[in-house]
Amino acid sequence: MMQIKEAIAKGEGEVQLRGWIHRERGSAKLKFINLRDVSGIIQCVFEREKLGDKQFDLIDKVQVETSMMLTGTIKKDERAPTGYEVNVSSFEIVGESHEFPITKDQSVEFLADKRHLWLRSRKMTAILKIRSSVFAAIDEYFKGEGFYEYHSPIFQAVQCEGGSSLFSVDYFGKKDVFLAQTWQLYAEPAIFALEKIYTISPSFRAEKSKTSRHLTEYWHAEMEVAWSDFSMIQDYGEALLKYVAKKVLAQNTEELELLERDLTTLKATAEKKFPRITYTQALKILKEKCDMEIEWGKDLRTIEEDKLSKLYDTPIIITHYPKKVKAFYMKIPENADEDVVEGCDFIAPEGYGEIIGGSQREADIQKIVERLKEEGEDETEYEFYLDTRRYGSVPHGGFGMGVERVISWICGLDNIKDAIPFPRTMLRYKP
Ligand code: 4AD
Ligand code: MG
Repeated sequence: MMQIKEAIAKGEGEVQLRGWIHRERGSAKLKFINLRDVSGIIQCVFEREKLGDKQFDLIDKVQVETSMMLTGTIKKDERAPTGYEVNVSSFEIVGESHEFPITKDQSVEFLADKRHLWLRSRKMTAILKIRSSVFAAIDEYFKGEGFYEYHSPIFQAVQCEGGSSLFSVDYFGKKDVFLAQTWQLYAEPAIFALEKIYTISPSFRAEKSKTSRHLTEYWHAEMEVAWSDFSMIQDYGEALLKYVAKKVLAQNTEELELLERDLTTLKATAEKKFPRITYTQALKILKEKCDMEIEWGKDLRTIEEDKLSKLYDTPIIITHYPKKVKAFYMKIPENADEDVVEGCDFIAPEGYGEIIGGSQREADIQKIVERLKEEGEDETEYEFYLDTRRYGSVPHGGFGMGVERVISWICGLDNIKDAIPFPRTMLRYKP
């Protein structure tokens, strides 16, 4: 057996292939089947005269998505969809197919109901291959930089990114257990052992918004590093995104082509330095270039992030947000003349939104406690976390990258849902 791609590379002589029927058409004497496997598509010809009536009648009746194995002779053929054709000498049906429910021009809702079958489409196959490259790139990047892979629990007893997006779990009758929004509070304690750590793990957010960039379950690539300063956190984020962009550009040319992806921002991301602007500068740019006036202290909304992102061809890093729009653990810089924190958001090009959120962490235990109280939290629940600042605290920081947001941008998707095999949103948790 060989893959279709290998057979095409061979270009002549006998080949043995296996796969699924992508398309079929034919006449009483001649049948054309486009066979699909993970590597590609090839046209296969079945002749009644050559195969005999019994075999030909078999192939004549098949439905698309039937799985089969075949042997035949490959040759170049300009008329064939992928430039080559196999003249079949023998074949075997492996799994018959019922009439496949997915045909052309079906509604988004129908395709979501049939997600388990839609995964085989050329589009989803291409996205899933790119997704695999992105996960590999994240691992390679962090391992290459000397990070240890580390795991936080998914059942957690404290919030980190605001209580409103927590999913509570019935934990043997106890109600103060939540699904992880982030690994962070359980990762910070580990930098005292491992210094540089990362993970790729699911995070859960009870997002009530029905947007094109929110999932309730998404994959979160997070890092935490000891002895950092704020610019180092931004450097790591920038280098990670560059590594991912380069890897996909090198490895997924065919998939990007199939998705008809314009590569401008991907290439720029791989090569050019990302602009770093403060929140206050961002407001100025929005006013001057986009005619949008935002009151200092208000968080940037999707619409503002989109406007900003369209001014650049790489991700942009926005830093020093107002304290009150960011989480309790972000560092308040010494001698700052504004009420800001050392937090940064990376905004993807082309309006794909925030792909990384990170910060230098607050070292001062009093400030952390104050801010927890401001958020209405019971600080006694955070004792384990506060201990990280009591026993040999060091400057440190980290970030989280929304992997599906990155995939969505890389693939140029209309909706984040296609960046993950079985998307979970407020309205969709089946199949
Ligand atoms: O900005 P966030 O909330 O940051 C944190 O969770 C930090 N504790 C990370 C850290 O410092 N270790 O989330 C990080 C990223 C966002 O920038 C976004 O890309 C993604 O997670 N994200 C989502 N992706 C898909 N669906 C959602 N509902 C998301 N919410 C956040
Ligand atoms: Mg954020």
